[in-house]
Amino acid sequence: MSKQVILTGLRANNDLHIGNYFGALLPIIDMAKNKSDEYQINLFVPDLHSFTTPIDHSQLQAQIMHNLRLFVAAGLPLDNSNVHIYRQSYIPAHSELTVILNSFSGMGHMNRMIQYKDKSMKLGDDQISVGLFDYPVLMAADILLYGAKFIPVGDDQSQHLEFTRDIAERMNSKFGELFTVPEPVAKQHEFFGKDQGLRIKDLVDPAKKMSKSDDSDKGIIFLGDSPEAAAKKIRGATTDSFGKIDVANQDQAGIQNLLQILSLTTGTPLDEVTASYAGQEQYGPLKTDTAEAVQSFLQSFQERLIAVDGGALLAKLEESEAKMNSIASESLLRVQKAIGLR
Ligand code: TYM
Repeated sequence: MSKQVILTGLRANNDLHIGNYFGALLPIIDMAKNKSDEYQINLFVPDLHSFTTPIDHSQLQAQIMHNLRLFVAAGLPLDNSNVHIYRQSYIPAHSELTVILNSFSGMGHMNRMIQYKDKSMKLGDDQISVGLFDYPVLMAADILLYGAKFIPVGDDQSQHLEFTRDIAERMNSKFGELFTVPEPVAKQHEFFGKDQGLRIKDLVDPAKKMSKSDDSDKGIIFLGDSPEAAAKKIRGATTDSFGKIDVANQDQAGIQNLLQILSLTTGTPLDEVTASYAGQEQYGPLKTDTAEAVQSFLQSFQERLIAVDGGALLAKLEESEAKMNSIASESLLRVQKAIGLR
């Protein structure tokens, strides 16, 4: 029997930030390191998803290759035949399946996508692309082509996962067992050992998530930030005027965010971190400790990035892309036959 698939993708619209790293990259890398005997691991750059909102295209190619190196620096093993790393646009079946799935996706359903609504609100009417609207369908194709069961993503992608499940179930009931249906979101959390999806907040405005498509980078810790500059961003993070760390206080989003970042960058469970700061009447020590933790996390990450072997990465890419093309083409053919195209 073929192995169950764990799959995720990170767009190349910008440098990755700590939300992308801890929300999606690290969980799949942990699986690649520890579970690849039992599972097939697919990590890819959804390069076609990278310009659903406007970007500087002169940077895209370099950004794609840079992000692939980030995956390796984060610990992705290149010498493991159950681990695959690839670029979406190198596997044309992603685009072809999307065109097919488009005709089985309802406008009403797509109109309810929170990310589409959020992102389009920030754009002028003439900048809202059909690609942005269609984003979840391409994402569903990314997942369904490989029969992925487990998809580590941040909290903001839950609705897209549910959409993927929905379209897979509808196609299966119409055309027979075409697709493997990914696990429901709650089961995904359980599988990855979490009680909920991660959502790191913006440091300047902790009411919103840290997002690499934002215009200002003041509230974002990018993996490429100088460690000193990142520490400064943490020390300048917006908190509140309560003057006491109270973990039950829902209005302390800035403080909770710092506790979360400290927990992730030191690898200490959140409840332990929280317990050691609860009740403190100064925010200074939490900020200083988090700033130091982020600084040393980035220092060691960036050292690993410099050491990435570009030749080995390219060889692995070529090998994975050939293999993924054959898996994805088979899935596509199954769909083409089922719907009457072949
Ligand atoms: P992208 O590149 O926008 O985000 C990459 C991953 O980072 C997570 N993430 C966060 N996690 C925690 N806190 C945050 N502030 C934060 N911001 C982003 C995202 O949830 C995501 O997991 N749609 C995907 C790309 C994609 C994909 C796929 C993923 C395309 N096809 C198929 C899985 C399977 C996305 O949001 O990328």
